[in-house]
Amino acid sequence: MSRAAAPQNTDTPGRDQRGGPVQLFYTPAGGQRRPTIDRAEGLYMWDTEGRRYIDACSGPVASNLGHGNPRVIEALVDQARRASFAFPAAFESEANAALGDLVASLAGPGLERAFFVSGGSEANESAIKLARQYAVAKGEGQRWKVIGRLPSYHGATLGALAVTGDPAAEELFGPMMKLMPKVPAPFSYRVPEGYTAETWADEAAEALDREILKQGPETVLAFIMEPVGGLSTGALVAPDAYYRRVREICNRHGVLLIYDEIMSGAGRTGSFLAAGHLPDARPDLVTLAKGISAGYAPLGAVLAPRDMVALVAERGGFAHGYTYFSNPLSCAVGLAVVREMLDQDLMANAQRMGAVLRERLSTLMSRSPIVGDVRGKGLLMAIELVADKQTKAMIPVERMAPYRVADLALERGLIQYVRRTANGIYGDWLMVTPPLIVTEAQIDEVVGILGDCLNALAAELRTAGVALGET
Ligand SMILES: Cc1ncc(COP(=O)(O)O)c(C=O)c1O
Repeated sequence: MSRAAAPQNTDTPGRDQRGGPVQLFYTPAGGQRRPTIDRAEGLYMWDTEGRRYIDACSGPVASNLGHGNPRVIEALVDQARRASFAFPAAFESEANAALGDLVASLAGPGLERAFFVSGGSEANESAIKLARQYAVAKGEGQRWKVIGRLPSYHGATLGALAVTGDPAAEELFGPMMKLMPKVPAPFSYRVPEGYTAETWADEAAEALDREILKQGPETVLAFIMEPVGGLSTGALVAPDAYYRRVREICNRHGVLLIYDEIMSGAGRTGSFLAAGHLPDARPDLVTLAKGISAGYAPLGAVLAPRDMVALVAERGGFAHGYTYFSNPLSCAVGLAVVREMLDQDLMANAQRMGAVLRERLSTLMSRSPIVGDVRGKGLLMAIELVADKQTKAMIPVERMAPYRVADLALERGLIQYVRRTANGIYGDWLMVTPPLIVTEAQIDEVVGILGDCLNALAAELRTAGVALGET
């Protein structure tokens, strides 16, 4: 019997004109080709040409333990040998249960239950759906609106994007989503005229109250925010009073408070959760990802109160799941990562090295004409780039300043993680988020190269005729 010819892919597998693989449609920011990774250890990564790079950002703020941790790799291999996959409908797994216990013991009061997924977007989708099911179980089925902040980032999937505050993403994908209401983020550096950081933070909290009243408090399910900002705000930390006020407003209206700790959690700020710094503003739900598995496997988590989970379970259980939820391999990795973080006392290192990093970046700011602000908590730090420190004038957005720094850094063997919110209309910043194992000497190495890159950028801007306030 003759076989019909299978339709052929007309692309020739191999390399495009620039030497890139033709089958992938991923494009690095700025369209620049990137080196090919060969191996990585600690803070260092080597490409296939033998060049060495220092990871100043933990990838996308994920590789909290650095690269090549032998205990984590051993745990991964062990679990893969025992059972690399077992679906929770059929089997419980020791890794899943042990990670749940450990994370709940570190999360503090009111967060006694954990649900594991594959990443941050899935964690936020899951938290929002759990919140909704809880409201329905309580007889408050009219609550469904989740208020977010502007700007913010909660993930790439359409549910997580609907609560994300990013006008550029809204413009592109808005028609496909049920967009949720937004209130201003309590920016501390670029505040509207007539405000200080404190009075603007008060105003941002009042805006939440007003928005809840405008929407109808009985329809509002939750407020979601990053307690220490990620890339969307450049490691924004609000005054303590903001968090307390937000908590009080949510309580008054019966609105759940969700902390997205996908970037700030898992020890990065020097506490297991950034919520650990905010005893008067405990969240109802927390989402984690990134550092919880430190890049060794895809993992995210929702932490929830015992009573919430019990009520939802009573009414038929959480109507939600994924093929890879509670994945044993990812949970075994997460368990090894968190144990390693505790054994190496990395939260204390994040506090100590965070203080060193802040001091070095402040010195850099005093020397560079284009660094206007240093902010963050622990090893979740950022610097804001400006054309003029006095006026806080921004570098023209079309200069793509953060992306240019990332390219200059890569040329100098430093890896930077850059992504702009809303095409840079709120300002441009660079995250400085090395792995939690970083040493003081490595901080000096990172900040030294970063300083060179900023000098190079300042020189390019001058050549291009951008007026820099040289004070
Ligand atoms: C604060 C925050 N939330 C959610 C996400 C989405 O996580 P993921 O990319 O793992 O889906 C990110 C990722 O950068 C993040 O920083």
